[in-house]
Amino acid sequence: MVSIAVVPVAGHGTRLMPLTRAVPKELLPLGRKPVLQSVVEELQQCGIDDIVMVTSDRKQCVLREHFQTGAPSSIQFANQCEQLGLGHAVLCSEEFVGQNAFLIALGDAMIGLSDHASLCRRMIRIFHETDADSVIAFQSVPIERVSRYGIASVASAYKAGDEFFELSGLVEKPSTDKAPSRFAIAARYICKPDIFSLLRETKAGAGNEIQLTDALRLLIDRGGKVLGVPITDTEQRYDVGSFDSYFTAFIEAALADPECGDRVAAKLREILAKQ
Ligand code: G1P
Repeated sequence: MVSIAVVPVAGHGTRLMPLTRAVPKELLPLGRKPVLQSVVEELQQCGIDDIVMVTSDRKQCVLREHFQTGAPSSIQFANQCEQLGLGHAVLCSEEFVGQNAFLIALGDAMIGLSDHASLCRRMIRIFHETDADSVIAFQSVPIERVSRYGIASVASAYKAGDEFFELSGLVEKPSTDKAPSRFAIAARYICKPDIFSLLRETKAGAGNEIQLTDALRLLIDRGGKVLGVPITDTEQRYDVGSFDSYFTAFIEAALADPECGDRVAAKLREILAKQ
């Protein structure tokens, strides 16, 4: 059973200044809701009601305020005192997770525009069916963007349409010439609690941060079975990590709005026709 999720929401949003001076980037709207609310709903739709948000003291108050009314899930907060990277943020959740397999959902990324949960449901099913040690979501990215992501080395022969592939390696933010593939980690992971001891062994890597990607590579190196699940076209990842991704994600979410989408589309066509 995967019934608990860790949602890292600790970043300072430095790429989005001055927007994020007081507003956590995870509360930026994509359409009608903050991106983090869509993430919480996605988890609930997967049957996960226990959520651990890893965040700083400063952000905790406003996140609590947003979720205190109307969130049917149990949301607990783990404190990350220092910003030492995604791997370190996950390590801060250890005492909440205990001995359970758990899902990691990055709090600045929404999956899909309407059915947010199809990807994680599939990942959970594959995790159980294959007895994997870890299952990670991947999207294919253009070669010039590989240096922004964790990139997979693919072990098994993978054909388009396969539900998953096995990984033989992982590298965080490689340069274009060192990237082993164009498969980029897409904000969702399932791990077993043994990832915590691997994280404790992990030294600072890309960006001088403790990277989850590096701990997962260690798991592969030690014989762990780590599977990659490619996302489908309707499961695109919409993130608010940078201004360009945030602006385009917002436009897509607004266009998909059942009430206003058509009017937004007409207005956009009008604006673009004038350019
Ligand atoms: C993080 C991960 C990276 C992953 C990306 C998108 O990077 O470290 O492996 O590909 O999220 O899910 P960040 O965007 O925090 O730099």
